[in-house]
Amino acid sequence: MKKDLGVLPALFPMPVLMVSTYGEDGKVDVMNAAWGQICDMDKIMLFLTETHKTVANIKHSKAFCVSLADKKHMDVADYYGIVSANRNPDKFEKSGYTAIKSERVNAPIIDEFPLVMECELSEIVETNDVFGIVGKIVNVKANEEVLNDKNKVDVTKLNALMFDQFQNGYYVVGEKAGQAWNAGVELSKK
Ligand SMILES: Cc1cc2nc3c(=O)[nH]c(=O)nc-3n(C[C@H](O)[C@H](O)[C@H](O)COP(=O)(O)O)c2cc1C
Repeated sequence: MKKDLGVLPALFPMPVLMVSTYGEDGKVDVMNAAWGQICDMDKIMLFLTETHKTVANIKHSKAFCVSLADKKHMDVADYYGIVSANRNPDKFEKSGYTAIKSERVNAPIIDEFPLVMECELSEIVETNDVFGIVGKIVNVKANEEVLNDKNKVDVTKLNALMFDQFQNGYYVVGEKAGQAWNAGVELSKK
């Protein structure tokens, strides 16, 4: 028997994305964003509140990097989602993390996170219902420890955090349940 739960953003899992940018003054900022998705093979869309410092930074620098947060760096990842550089300009310095300028876009890469997408601002989509920032992914970098021997990302090594918007939990992805475009093959032959 299903119960009605009312109106909820009832999607799980949500990613835990670290959006890193430069301000006009060259200062690094990083924010936590769970409302983001791949929207083409080379594009990512982030749904950000327009007043965040990150948004001002992206409008100015026309670029950003998106890292996947992992379990080892959960506390700092969460901190990036609690504190705003609008009110705390030294937000990034206080985290003690390392920023390295991307060679491809005008944005910093945060060294501690295992995988990063380097993005150019493609467009800002603004309608009555949506404020979305679309980035064109110009490169992906990943730590060797999260790759298999064919240089593919092995998500069992990534320990990527997932956000649970029902109860505000962070979860870790681990167990592989099956293979996509394969688990349903037998049934498709009927
Ligand atoms: C788990 C988590 C997920 C979040 N997801 C989003 C999001 O998708 N979009 C958004 O605008 N803010 C999101 N936030 C809030 C921002 O990270 C937060 O307001 C941050 O302080 C903004 O930083 P900035 O002003 O330095 O850019 C999230 C926070 C947390 C803890």
